[in-house]
Amino acid sequence: MIDKRMDFPMLKNDIIYFDNGATTFKPDVVIDAIDDYYKNYSANAHRGDYSISYKVDVLYESARKKVANFINANFDEVIFTSGTTDSLNMIAEGFFKNILEENDEVLLTKSEHASNVLPWFKLARELNVKIKYIDLDDNLHVTMDNVKKAITNKTKVISIAGITNVVGDERPIDDICKFAHANDIFVVIDGAQLVPHKKVDVKKSDIDFLAFSGHKMCGPTGIGVLYGKREFLENLEPVRLGGGMNESFDNEYEVYLKDLPLRLEAGTPNIAGALGLAKAIDYLTNIGMDNISEHEKKLKSYMIDKLIKLPFVDIINLESDSGIISFNIDGIFSQDVAFYLSKYNICVRAGNHCAKILKSKTGVKNSIRVSLYFYNTYEEIDKFISLISDKEKILKEMI
Ligand SMILES: Cc1ncc(COP(=O)(O)O)c(C=O)c1O
Repeated sequence: MIDKRMDFPMLKNDIIYFDNGATTFKPDVVIDAIDDYYKNYSANAHRGDYSISYKVDVLYESARKKVANFINANFDEVIFTSGTTDSLNMIAEGFFKNILEENDEVLLTKSEHASNVLPWFKLARELNVKIKYIDLDDNLHVTMDNVKKAITNKTKVISIAGITNVVGDERPIDDICKFAHANDIFVVIDGAQLVPHKKVDVKKSDIDFLAFSGHKMCGPTGIGVLYGKREFLENLEPVRLGGGMNESFDNEYEVYLKDLPLRLEAGTPNIAGALGLAKAIDYLTNIGMDNISEHEKKLKSYMIDKLIKLPFVDIINLESDSGIISFNIDGIFSQDVAFYLSKYNICVRAGNHCAKILKSKTGVKNSIRVSLYFYNTYEEIDKFISLISDKEKILKEMI
């Protein structure tokens, strides 16, 4: 039991929030850090020669250090972005667009989020690069056997989620990186659902690029991280150009860029976001990432044990490795179930969860998704189960 509920103003509203895969609630310390910045030293970063601006510089760069320590990266390998989507687009557009050639192959899976599919589709159209999919096994997992089967001598990149947002399976990242690197293949990890829930060590796992979002880990919206090994970030061409990232330029269109990491952060950064994310990282670190993932797994098993007893419930991912459970109720549209639960102040997600190509593998187009976090409780699950258990009640009240 992780008793941190009093830290979250949103949890004082008698709400049962099971949509943490979409975004998480924010603890007071994060909200206070943002408030403090706007109220007490609201200057720009890297631009002013006065004390509040200096304070911003120090805190913004110490936020970067905090992120770097959290994932065991070097300081200049952490680029602040607006989120996972932004990071993945920068990786595809700024790095791979310049090195991939016609008929090179990019390996994805059919359970990737749109943010890890569409930037690659764009490269496929522009460069005639081929997108291929690593087969998922019967439990919707990626196995090393299937990774090896999918690789050809044209494979240049494997880009996959560390944990997926629909079926919550965890990928064998360390083994994938090891095998990929032995075959000169880059590995990009979409960490949106991984970094908030499990300890990630980019060096130990030997990840080439990692993307994640602050808002899914108790931080603010609009801030995210692009991690890349320094040697690769050096060759990542800025997708955005402007102030803050150039050293100088002249009339002959000559532009001299700053060193990493600033070179990849054009324009005024999301200062409040970075400061809030740093506080969120402190907060999660204090709880302990191992405690977080352990608690979520216990809650998940508890919920699955209860759901499985309901004959009209089809669980899509019985073998989920995380706090994500997707299911359907026979004969009832997932959105209707979400609407019914919402009447009882329970928030779940219904739909295809941005992984639109997964339906071709599972045959399931829409589902109800519960995604848990460390502040969820067994009592919340009991209440949810008692509402789901009564199918007649759902049918009567869903409209
Ligand atoms: C696996 C995965 N990748 C990428 C994203 C996109 O994250 P963001 O909207 O914060 O950019 C999400 C968001 O739900 C996700 O779950």
